[in-house]
Amino acid sequence: MASKSKILFIGGIGYIGKFIFEASAKAGHPTYILVREATLSNSAKSKVIENFKALGVNFVLGDLYDHESVVKAIKQVHVVISTVGHAQLADQGKIIAAIKEAGNVQRFFPSEFGNDVDRVHAVEPAKSVFETKAKIRRAVEAEGIPYTYVSSNFFAGYFLPTLNQLGASSPPREKVVIWAMEIPKQFSTRKMTLGRPPANTISFNELVSLWEKKIGKTLERIYVPEEQLLKNIQEAAVPLNVMLGVRHSAFVKGDHTNFEIEPSFGVETTALYPDVKYTTVDDYLNRFV
Ligand SMILES: NC(=O)c1ccc[n+]([C@@H]2O[C@H](COP(=O)([O-])OP(=O)(O)OC[C@H]3O[C@@H](n4cnc5c(N)ncnc54)[C@H](OP(=O)(O)O)[C@@H]3O)[C@@H](O)[C@H]2O)c1
Repeated sequence: MASKSKILFIGGIGYIGKFIFEASAKAGHPTYILVREATLSNSAKSKVIENFKALGVNFVLGDLYDHESVVKAIKQVHVVISTVGHAQLADQGKIIAAIKEAGNVQRFFPSEFGNDVDRVHAVEPAKSVFETKAKIRRAVEAEGIPYTYVSSNFFAGYFLPTLNQLGASSPPREKVVIWAMEIPKQFSTRKMTLGRPPANTISFNELVSLWEKKIGKTLERIYVPEEQLLKNIQEAAVPLNVMLGVRHSAFVKGDHTNFEIEPSFGVETTALYPDVKYTTVDDYLNRFV
């Protein structure tokens, strides 16, 4: 069997990072994580850290803002996956600089895991967040670093448990707020992989109908026109205005599905991994019935 590539995670204890990190270790990759000393002793993170230890992963002490530590960590691996959060997105130039200095990295995955940021029609302030990720793409390309951009669209765990009802903790059972009258298909996980699994590419109205069928009840559908949503974005504070802006891009502009995935820039994940049985929206909703 060919030896598995060694993978370093930066941000591997975060919301999305921990899932990818665990999958990497379970797939048999020698898996490393750049971790700050304070995080290792943070009781709030102890469960995740214990789980990682049980998987036999390698903790490398360091910090995104400590260049030497990042270079030293990168020198031990073939692949670097960044899953840093919003606050660190713009600073991923530091990872790029360390990869250049280390000189051994065969592939870099910058922190993406959302919309395809080169194909969005967003309004501020979400527009600037997407632009930050796009700037990192351009910096990676300018440095000639081999890369993969994972455009996973919405994570099921973020949106499906409430059917995108802000402030709710469970799916609606009486009324459901739907943004925009006509909602293009969305919901979907180089080069670039785009998560648009066929069974999970459904419109908001189809999603509500699916849920109604499961609970045996018809919900009152309250449609919010785009003008109202734009007004809400303008009036909201951070981070709500960003959250609403991301939803405007996906639900109103249809930015998850309003373009064809051309072979010149990407491939859909289920075409790339046809043997992987993914969780469908239909199955996922069953856990809330
Ligand atoms: N598609 C979707 O639905 C969706 C939803 C959410 C996020 N995302 C995307 O997923 C990506 C990751 O976001 P997230 O929410 O998972 O991030 P997150 O939970 O905020 O995690 C950030 C990670 O970065 C680490 N970190 C922070 N500062 C660091 C430093 N100075 N040195 C080393 N590590 C540092 C944190 O480590 P500590 O544990 O030490 O703090 C943490 O592990 C982002 O690109 C985001 O846009 C997509």
